[in-house]
Amino acid sequence: MVVDCVVKNGRIILPTGITDASLIIDKGIIIGIIKSSEPKADKIIDAKGNYVLPGMVDTHVHLRDPGNTERENFESGTRAAAAGGVTTIIDMPNTVPATVTVKALEEKKRIASKKALVDYGFIGGAGEVPEEDLRHLAKAGVTAFKSFMIARFKELAASDYRLIKNFEVISDENLPCMIHAENQNIVEKGMEEAKLLGRHDAIAHCEFRPAIAEIEATMRSIILARQSEVHLHICHMTVAEAVDILELAQSEGQDVSGETSTNYLILNEEIMKEKGPYAKVDPPLRKPEDQIRLWEALNDGIINILASDHAPYTKEEKEKGWDNIFDAPSGGVVIETSLPLMLNSVNEGKISLERLCEVFSANPAILNSLYPKKGTMQLGSDADLVIVDLDKKFKIQGEKLKSIQKITAYEGMTGIGFPILTMVRGNTIYEEDQVVGKPGYGKFVSPLE
Ligand code: DOR
Ligand code: ZN
Ligand code: ZN
Repeated sequence: MVVDCVVKNGRIILPTGITDASLIIDKGIIIGIIKSSEPKADKIIDAKGNYVLPGMVDTHVHLRDPGNTERENFESGTRAAAAGGVTTIIDMPNTVPATVTVKALEEKKRIASKKALVDYGFIGGAGEVPEEDLRHLAKAGVTAFKSFMIARFKELAASDYRLIKNFEVISDENLPCMIHAENQNIVEKGMEEAKLLGRHDAIAHCEFRPAIAEIEATMRSIILARQSEVHLHICHMTVAEAVDILELAQSEGQDVSGETSTNYLILNEEIMKEKGPYAKVDPPLRKPEDQIRLWEALNDGIINILASDHAPYTKEEKEKGWDNIFDAPSGGVVIETSLPLMLNSVNEGKISLERLCEVFSANPAILNSLYPKKGTMQLGSDADLVIVDLDKKFKIQGEKLKSIQKITAYEGMTGIGFPILTMVRGNTIYEEDQVVGKPGYGKFVSPLE
């Protein structure tokens, strides 16, 4: 038998641990994990003793397509994903139009099918929408829903009353609800106060959008979700007390998970002084004490998901924030740098390689009902993988990013540990700093399959 591909000499991260073995791939699927003589193959990839990880499944990505394709789009964003070892992206609903109807979802599917280099799924928006719309989106294959407790994206913002109603429907559809947890009133009044005081320096974004806004909203979302059996997923957690609340809810048996990103693990509010608007994200960067708690929680299982929260804006939009931080939009270019930064953290002893694969591959695939097709390398799984060189040094430079935005809050940062090859369904899409995948190769994934 001649198979399509063999990946040999790799140290493979399996759910059971690290194994020196060869991966046998045929028709885009893993059909063997063997230690002895490999079958003949059309293509042999020599991993040269490097680690072979399951492809990353990034459950929090804003590709801006349709609506703001100058910020990012399905082609540029998935090129960046390929370079960052991300083989499946889950796109957020705050596009224009927002993904709150089946029509908008179908339009996105059409766009992505022509442009994407990696596989993709979609999150439906759960704002002030009729129950029927949520049900139709679920039937059309969204992997999850997202609600905002702040009014920034008005079609996706839900009142407490509506959250309770939405949670019931979403739970009935067996999907999770992701939440952006910040208290609208505290955020709004904080901005007004900053204005009154004439504060528009970078750090004012952190000071006047305080941790209590996130802590309160995290607590409230958990209480509202108790009314139903919904799986509540708290996005981009940043602050120690919110993690304590999450831990308490989990200890009481509630189905609630938490997510954080490299923004909050690697950066803190100090960096606002240097990077200004480029480090402006919502919720804002916090304090070193919070980072300690986030790392602990990520390692001990309270936070079980890492996602990039890739949310690009143009340089022009960001630059406005130097004069007045409140004039710059919140969000950063991160999909490509998340894995290298985490590999560097593996080298620094902050997280194990196995745990990194759980939080950035297996658990997000499980959350989006895509496991074990995605998020693992088991027999029958899609052959999505990333080979990483844990000794390869890197320096982050905006101008070298594959995203259309050549800007990053991590500019100039160095580290050790870099992806050297990314494969989606048996085909190499990134190798030796070059994206070799083709637009249109990526496939729609959903819980319906
Ligand atoms: O910083 C952020 N940017 N936080 C969000 O919640 C939204 C995102 C965006 O889409 O720009
Ligand atoms: Zn958010
Ligand atoms: Zn986001």
